[in-house]
Amino acid sequence: MKLKTLFSPEKIGNVQIKNRIVRSATYVRRAEKYGSIGDQLIDFYKELAKGGTGLIISEFIAVDQSGTASAYQVRLDNDSFLPGHKRLVHSIHDYPETKIAAQIAHTGRQSVHPKYPPVAPSAVPDKQTGLTPRKLKIEEIRSLINKFVDTGTRAYHAGYDMVQLHAAHGYFLSNFVSPYTNRRKDEYGGNIENMARILVDIYNGLRDEIGNEFPITIKLQTQDFVPGGLLLDDAVKIAKILVDTGFNAIEPSGGIGETQVGVKEAYPSKVIKSPEDENYFLPTCKRLKPMMKNCKLILVGGIKNPVSAEIFLNDKITDFISMCRPLIYEPDLPNRWRNGDLTPAKCISCNSCYMTSLTGPVYCVVRKRRERKKKKN
Ligand SMILES: Cc1cc2nc3c(=O)[nH]c(=O)nc-3n(C[C@H](O)[C@H](O)[C@H](O)COP(=O)(O)O)c2cc1C
Repeated sequence: MKLKTLFSPEKIGNVQIKNRIVRSATYVRRAEKYGSIGDQLIDFYKELAKGGTGLIISEFIAVDQSGTASAYQVRLDNDSFLPGHKRLVHSIHDYPETKIAAQIAHTGRQSVHPKYPPVAPSAVPDKQTGLTPRKLKIEEIRSLINKFVDTGTRAYHAGYDMVQLHAAHGYFLSNFVSPYTNRRKDEYGGNIENMARILVDIYNGLRDEIGNEFPITIKLQTQDFVPGGLLLDDAVKIAKILVDTGFNAIEPSGGIGETQVGVKEAYPSKVIKSPEDENYFLPTCKRLKPMMKNCKLILVGGIKNPVSAEIFLNDKITDFISMCRPLIYEPDLPNRWRNGDLTPAKCISCNSCYMTSLTGPVYCVVRKRRERKKKKN
């Protein structure tokens, strides 16, 4: 069986992607200390490019030091970081037709930075971190909007093919679209339009700086999976505002840090025990697709089977499929599928890769274990 659609080109804005395979943003903890890009990170990304992924979305890149998850997270909050980003982009563009997006983010309510206490739209205690974020004043929100715009503009000048706002997983931008974390009654809260305003403001600010050609995409929170949190019905209304604003692609996701407190089913990186658990944001894509107009949809979450992916694309439920954990195990997975080996991804979605990020560079524990065993035998 040939996967014609999975390996056919498609555009996001004016940027052509050689196939429908996206690497979802993945923090790999390989930046140099305090956020600059060196050989270790570039070599890791080159493996992905070599492996055939059409669009590589970077890990979350901090728009400000106050919004970093660790000292080894990539930053782009001032021009001193630009040379490393330019090197990264050039080395990915050395691979024919391979594109790279910069995902830009601030940790917001989930910050555990020793120097910078967490900030959020509202002061709602976080059950995972045990901290209560400070409620931001309007002028502080505007200042952070400017930081997103400045960082996105730097990404444009660094040569990235597009930018992705990280508005998911309980980080700063997703805090605004959730009724659980946004209790404001001013222009940034209180109703759906106000909750989406920060995303529209960043979009408009970026367009003023970089014009209409550079695609602006978003990873969008669509469900929090906590009591009182964002529900899909409201997320659909938010997505409609973003489509009408002009965003070029939406990658729907969900879950916040607190989702993982006391439950085994950790989002966004859900543990997958059977094929029925796979493709877990497919129902979300089915809801969003009819209103997407020219905005492209990127399905993420538990994608492992190329034949199913081909069906979703042919059925026009999504325009792209996106993977994180499977590409940590097998950076050459797209080429393996393209060359005719259609067995599903070897990743068992156990989330042990996520745990490695707490102490050092991210790697697949299962793969390492299997390789060790093979060596022994
Ligand atoms: C180690 C690790 C790091 C991640 N880093 C990011 C990140 O920087 N930005 C982001 O939006 N999502 C991040 N995610 C979530 C993934 O992009 C993705 O949404 C999730 O893992 C589900 O996709 P999968 O089933 O293909 O792994 C991360 C997940 C893991 C396991």
